[in-house]
Amino acid sequence: MHVTARAHPNIALVKYWGKRDSERNLPAVGSISITLGDLWTDMHIETDAQADELSVNDEPRPDLLPRIAACLDTVAGDDRRPMSVTSKSNFPVAAGLASSASSFAAAVVAAAGVSGQELCREELANLAGRASGSAARSLYEGFVELENAPDRVHVRSIRDTSSWPLSVVVAITSTLPKSVGSGEAMEVSRRTSPFYERWVDAQADDLERARTAILARDFDALAEVAEHNCLKMHSVMWASRPPMVYWNAATLDCMQVVRQLQSDGVSVFFTIDAGPQVKAICLPEYADQVRDAMAAIDGVEQVMTSGLGEGAHLLG
Ligand code: PMV
Repeated sequence: MHVTARAHPNIALVKYWGKRDSERNLPAVGSISITLGDLWTDMHIETDAQADELSVNDEPRPDLLPRIAACLDTVAGDDRRPMSVTSKSNFPVAAGLASSASSFAAAVVAAAGVSGQELCREELANLAGRASGSAARSLYEGFVELENAPDRVHVRSIRDTSSWPLSVVVAITSTLPKSVGSGEAMEVSRRTSPFYERWVDAQADDLERARTAILARDFDALAEVAEHNCLKMHSVMWASRPPMVYWNAATLDCMQVVRQLQSDGVSVFFTIDAGPQVKAICLPEYADQVRDAMAAIDGVEQVMTSGLGEGAHLLG
C-alpha cells in the first residue's frame, strides 16, 4: 500500500507565539495565515518496510524520524505497520521557511490515506497541530484562521485563493539552522518575557482587524496589522531571557527596502518568523518589482515568489 500527499507551507500574518498547553501543543493565541501555492512538500508513504524509515530530499534522515513517527502514530495508531516515508520539498527545508508546517500537514494526510482512516479535515488539522502548531493551518486553502477551542483548535479558510490573489516574495538571508527552535523559544518567552501576557491579551484585537481587512480585501489595513503583529512578536522575543534575536543585517535591509517601496506607492508589507528570512507580501502586479528589489540586497542569497494555494491533499 502506498500514497503521496502534498502540502504547502503557510505564512502567518497574525502570528502564533506561545503555548497554553505544551504537552498537547495547544497554542496560547489564535492566528491568521496565508497558504502558499508554489512551494510544496510531497510525502510518499509505503507500508512494506521492516521498520520506520525517513528520507528528506533523497537523504536518509534518522534524526528527524522520531517526530515524524510520533505524528504518524497519532493518525494511524501505535500498532500501525512500519512506514517508509519519502519527503521532497521544492524549497530549502533548513531555512526556517515553515517546512515543518508543510511536512506535518502532508504527513497526517498521507498517514490517514495509507492506513484507511477516514478523518475530517478539522481532525487532521488538530493532529498536525499536535506535531507543529502552524501545521494545522496548512490543511486549508487561501486565508486561514486558527481559533482556540476547549482542548483543541478550530481552523477554517476565511477567504479562498482566487477571490483575493496575493503574491509572496521570500528573501532567504541565511540557510544556517536556527539557534533556538520555535517550540523552545516560545516557552522561554512565556516564562521570561515581561511583554508575553500583554502579547496574548492583545491578540484578539489584531485577529479581528486582520479578519476584517481580509474580508474587505483592504490591503493597507492588512499591511498595518500584519507588520505591527510581527514586530510585536519579535519584541516579545527580544525582551526574553536569554534574548532571542533571529534577524541578521540583511533582514533589516529587506525591511528598509520594503519601507522604500511603500513610500514609492507599492502595495507591499513584510513579515518575519522565527528566522532571518523576510517575506514580502504584495499585490500580484508588484511581484516582479518587489522580487527585483529584494534580490538586489547584499546578503540576500535567494529569492522565491509564490501565489496563494490550496490545503493539504492526496495526490493521484
Ligand atoms: O509551528 P511552529 O512550532 O513551527 O511555530 C511557528 C511560529 C511562527 O512561525 C513564528 C509563527 C506562526 O504563526 O507561524
